[in-house]
Amino acid sequence: MSKQLHAHWSSRLAFILAVTGSAVGLGNIWKFPYMVGESGGAAFVLIYLICIAFIGLPILVAEWLIGRRGQKNPINTMAEQARLNGRSGLWTVVGISGVLGAFLILSFYSVIGGWSLSYTLGSVTGNFSGQDADGIGALFEGMLGNPGMMLGWHSVFMLLVIGIVARGVTKGLEGAVRTMMPALAVLLLILVGYGMTTGHFGEALAYLFNPDWSKLTGSTVLAALGHAFFTLSLGMGIMMAYGSYLGEDVSLLRTARTVVIMDTVIALGAGLAIFPIVFANGLDLASGPGLIFVTLPLAFGSMAGGTILGLMFFLLLTFAALTSAISLLEPVVEFVEERSPLGRVGSALVAGAGAWALGIAALLSFNVWSDPLLFGLNTFDLLDTLTSKFMLPLTGLGAIVFAAWCLDRDSVHRELGLSGAGSTMWSLAARYIAPLGVIVVFVGSL
Ligand code: PHE
Ligand code: NA
Repeated sequence: MSKQLHAHWSSRLAFILAVTGSAVGLGNIWKFPYMVGESGGAAFVLIYLICIAFIGLPILVAEWLIGRRGQKNPINTMAEQARLNGRSGLWTVVGISGVLGAFLILSFYSVIGGWSLSYTLGSVTGNFSGQDADGIGALFEGMLGNPGMMLGWHSVFMLLVIGIVARGVTKGLEGAVRTMMPALAVLLLILVGYGMTTGHFGEALAYLFNPDWSKLTGSTVLAALGHAFFTLSLGMGIMMAYGSYLGEDVSLLRTARTVVIMDTVIALGAGLAIFPIVFANGLDLASGPGLIFVTLPLAFGSMAGGTILGLMFFLLLTFAALTSAISLLEPVVEFVEERSPLGRVGSALVAGAGAWALGIAALLSFNVWSDPLLFGLNTFDLLDTLTSKFMLPLTGLGAIVFAAWCLDRDSVHRELGLSGAGSTMWSLAARYIAPLGVIVVFVGSL
């Protein structure tokens, strides 16, 4: 049953902020800078940009396009679009796996969001000041070993997410991104500004932008491809749900270009904020959550002004995590709201409570329930692997194949405002390059 009055974004800018809020997350602030440094600097950035342009961007546009045509939650949208275009009802699986994927990811994403909240408070109360490496490491281990504490922060984080989403698309989602995204940008600018004063900014620039083609291997190209997908929050019903609140007047290609540029600029900015601190303090660029939750606090604890810089950094991380988490809850809530008698608030509570409960199993993986559950993986790793390695690529593949091969070609090109060479480029990217790219990542990651 479709709703009579379906919400709409109040402006193109609001839509851009919401999408960027979803896209900008741990992937930008922690993973991207690290990947660039490890994989040949500018050489890697170039490959990544190519992947974004030919794979990420077409899939982003495909999800918006399908969602805008449906004006409903991803599951009903896929079912209806398949029927209207004379295709098999099996295409509904793309919507189901998107909504389910978002739900599963939210459950453990909220646990990490809770860490971020905890560290934000920890920087205010001066937990890190004067600590040595062992002390900081013990703080992190202490948190992981304390299920009660993690449950508390996971619950607070999820309540914030539910509270925002319950208020609806314009009041809740837009309200949140209108304040948090500018704040995020300002915090990032200040941290980059601080990086410039460390005397190690040039080193960070070189690390990020100096091309070293010898470091570029097949596996780094694969990593760039996979990241292009992840960084744009593709394959989880998010962009389809966000597209369902779009009116006809928004140019999808132009908007996608803006979002992709913002996401990349913020990722590079994060590198310029973090690396000078890392170099100035002789820290180790170790992989894993360690860089953010162990290595950086060590620096904040020992440098002048470290308390306020640490607070700004963890606030930035918290805003990035919150705006991504609300985008994970939205497709699930849209589905529950349209398919049940529950209103917006009730749907947000039910969907959020479900993800919260599953999140408890995920957070126990770090302490009392660390034993493998299936395939040698604990609950946290199982949820992560199932979603990121299987559900997301296959859902994204489904969306791009459906948009490029199953929808009426002329109407799609008209909708995207394409003609001549643009038409050919789009067809080439959407029909062949993007699907092939996703298949390569999928097979390569197994
Ligand atoms: N796009 C986010 C990032 O780059 C990751 C994310 C995926 C966030 C899915 C929300 C949902 O960090
Ligand atoms: Na991102």
